[in-house]
Amino acid sequence: MMEKDAKIYVAGHRGMVGSAIVRELNRQGYHNIVTRTHKELDLIDQRAVEAFFEEEKPEYVFLAAAKVGGIGANSDAPADFMYDNMVLEMNVIHSAWKHGVKKLEFLGSSCIYPRLAPQPMKEDCLLTSELEKTNEAYALAKISGLKYCEYLNRQYGTDYISVMPTNLYGPNDNYHPEHSHVLPALIRRFHEAKENGLPYVTCWGDGSPLREFLYVDDLANLCVFLMNHYSGNETVNGGTGKELSIKELTGLVAKVIGYEGEIRWDPSKPNGTPRKLLDVSKAAKLGWTYRTELEDGIRLAYEDFLHNPVRAER
Ligand SMILES: NC(=O)c1ccc[n+]([C@@H]2O[C@H](COP(=O)([O-])OP(=O)(O)OC[C@H]3O[C@@H](n4cnc5c(N)ncnc54)[C@H](OP(=O)(O)O)[C@@H]3O)[C@@H](O)[C@H]2O)c1
Repeated sequence: MMEKDAKIYVAGHRGMVGSAIVRELNRQGYHNIVTRTHKELDLIDQRAVEAFFEEEKPEYVFLAAAKVGGIGANSDAPADFMYDNMVLEMNVIHSAWKHGVKKLEFLGSSCIYPRLAPQPMKEDCLLTSELEKTNEAYALAKISGLKYCEYLNRQYGTDYISVMPTNLYGPNDNYHPEHSHVLPALIRRFHEAKENGLPYVTCWGDGSPLREFLYVDDLANLCVFLMNHYSGNETVNGGTGKELSIKELTGLVAKVIGYEGEIRWDPSKPNGTPRKLLDVSKAAKLGWTYRTELEDGIRLAYEDFLHNPVRAER
């Protein structure tokens, strides 16, 4: 259990996940939080990372910094995604271990699981078959990060853990027109369609794929919960365990935003994987469950989109 005055380093505190972890820590009475912006500390710079740990000596670390991107960015620049993420993770986890960090939590992503993993995906399906090609480099870097935590635990008796979230959304999301994930992309498109009075919006595919979404503040609550209540080499999935079709999601976003035009589908565009759902029974057994229902979460995310124009423009 983290002591209330413990020194906690949140890496990536300006990102969607990192900022939610800082909010959650503050909410729970943890205020001794150390942060550095990307500009102040480039986590790819091994010497700078070493010097930071030497100077600050944090006791706990949440590793939520990463080079993140959608399918397009991942398939255009696999070398960059692999190098940046692999080096960043190794630098932070290695320095944490060298400087005696009591516990570290590594943030991964559900794309680490095999492309054809049985649904819903359990933690133990990791490395049982081939990965999805489009984000293989990113997934391999994430698998290396979680395996490095496991190897440190085995070889040196550390208490380093990892969490694998499903699709996230919420405050500080990325709403870039080309580089964002499906839910923030829909928020932006329907908002702009409403503002411009467009009679219809055309969405990719046929709307049939099933997906799961977790509000980022719920994920942050899980991250703090696991830091305080979980130890183990196997990762823990973070999700709701509930799925809906992209068509249903689109209808929900249009409803929250108040877009009354028509929604059309373009089946000539790819659908992606038919179903992607995490098995969340492990987190449930540990005593954790999500709180924010999707429609409420979309409402909160849309509020943030409207009031956080700088981030919305990323
Ligand atoms: N978003 C999702 O749906 C989702 C789902 C599952 C898992 N996750 C995981 O959650 C983690 C965080 O994702 P996110 O959505 O919060 O991403 P994000 O909003 O892009 O935040 C990532 C943060 O890391 C920082 N960063 C990147 N490279 C850095 C470097 N070399 N040195 C220092 N800081 C660096 C970024 O700073 P700059 O912006 O200044 O570069 C940014 O603040 C990732 O591991 C991701 O895989 C996210």
